[in-house]
Amino acid sequence: MEDLDPTYIQAPEHRSDSNFIPNQPEEIPVIDLSRLDDHDDVQNVISEIGDACEKWGFFQVINHGVPCDTRQRVEKTVKTFFDLPMEEKIKVKRDEVNPVGYHDGEHTKNVRDWKEVFDIYFKDPMVIPSSTDPEDEGLRLVYNKRPQFPSDFRETCEEYARHAEKLALKVLELISLSLGLPKKRFHNYFKEQMSFLRINRYPPCPRPDLALGVGHHKDADVISVLAQDEVGGLQVSRRSDGVWFPIRPVPNALVINIGNCMEIWTNDKYWSAEHRVVVNTTRERYSIPFFLLPSHDVEVKPLEELVSLENPPRYKGYKWGKFYVSRNRSDFRKLETKNIQI
Ligand code: SIN
Ligand code: FE2
Repeated sequence: MEDLDPTYIQAPEHRSDSNFIPNQPEEIPVIDLSRLDDHDDVQNVISEIGDACEKWGFFQVINHGVPCDTRQRVEKTVKTFFDLPMEEKIKVKRDEVNPVGYHDGEHTKNVRDWKEVFDIYFKDPMVIPSSTDPEDEGLRLVYNKRPQFPSDFRETCEEYARHAEKLALKVLELISLSLGLPKKRFHNYFKEQMSFLRINRYPPCPRPDLALGVGHHKDADVISVLAQDEVGGLQVSRRSDGVWFPIRPVPNALVINIGNCMEIWTNDKYWSAEHRVVVNTTRERYSIPFFLLPSHDVEVKPLEELVSLENPPRYKGYKWGKFYVSRNRSDFRKLETKNIQI
C-alpha cells in the first residue's frame, strides 16, 4: 500500500466504510421532468419532488431541458483544462484578492479533499464580500481568472451555467408549489448575481479507505444542480438514520439537492443532507455542480407562511451576505448548528 500524505486522512468515523451498507434496495428518486408536459401528471411530479426534498434532500432529474450537447462540450473542455500541466493551471490559481479560480488544496472540515477544483462566476463581474472585517457587509466586484487554453473554456462553461441556472429556477418553482406557496415565491431572492459553477476532478487515489474526494458536508446554498460522470462516488446520508447511500450515475441526469437556505426557509420541512464523495484507485471522476445563491440582502429565516403556533420558527435567521462574508473567516463557525460548506 502506498503512503498517503496525512493531511488527507479522515477520522475513522468519517471514512468511506463507516455507516455504509452496500447494495441496499432503496434508491434516491429519479424524476422525469418531461411529465410536466402532461397536464394530468403535473401534480404527481410536484408531490414526488416534495417527498424527495423531505425524505432525502436529494433527487435526480431526467429530460430536464439542459441540452446534451452543451453538457458534452463542457465535460470535454473541463477535462482538457485539468489535463494541462500544473504550471499552466496555477496561472489561474485563486489568491487573496481574487478568490475565484483554480485550487488543488481545498479542505472540508480541516481535512484535505482528494481533488482539484475551479470556480466559475459565469456572469462577470461577480459580486463578492469586500473584506474579512466582521462588521463590513460591503460587496465588491471580481472578474474570473480565465485559462487561455482551452480556448472555448469560458464560453462553454458560461453557456452550460446559464442552462443550469434556468433549470435551478424551474425546480425552485416546483419546490415552491410543493410547499403550497405561489410558483414565484422565491423569485425576487435572486436579483444579484451570486450563483456560480464549480468544476471538480477527483484523480485516482491510492488509499480510498482513508481519504475522501470531498468530506461530509452540507451545501450552504438554496439548491445545487450537479452533473456527474459515469464513475460514481457521490453519497448522501439518509435523513432517518444517517446511513450513506450512493447517488447512482444515470446517463444525462442531473442531481438536485437542497441547501441550507431552503432548509431554513422551510423551517426544516425540507432537508439539507450531508453528502460526501468517495474516491477509488483506478478511475478519475469529474463533476460539475451549479450553486444557486440568493442575493446579498436576502434574509435566510423560516418563511412566515410556513410557521405557526404549533410549528414555531426553529431559526433566528441571518442575512445571506453577512453569512457569506463570515464563512471566509475563522469565526464562521458561529453558525455551528448548520455544519455549512460550499
Ligand atoms: C460536492 O458536494 O462538493 C461535490 C459533489 C460531487 O462531486 O459529486
Ligand atoms: Fe456539496
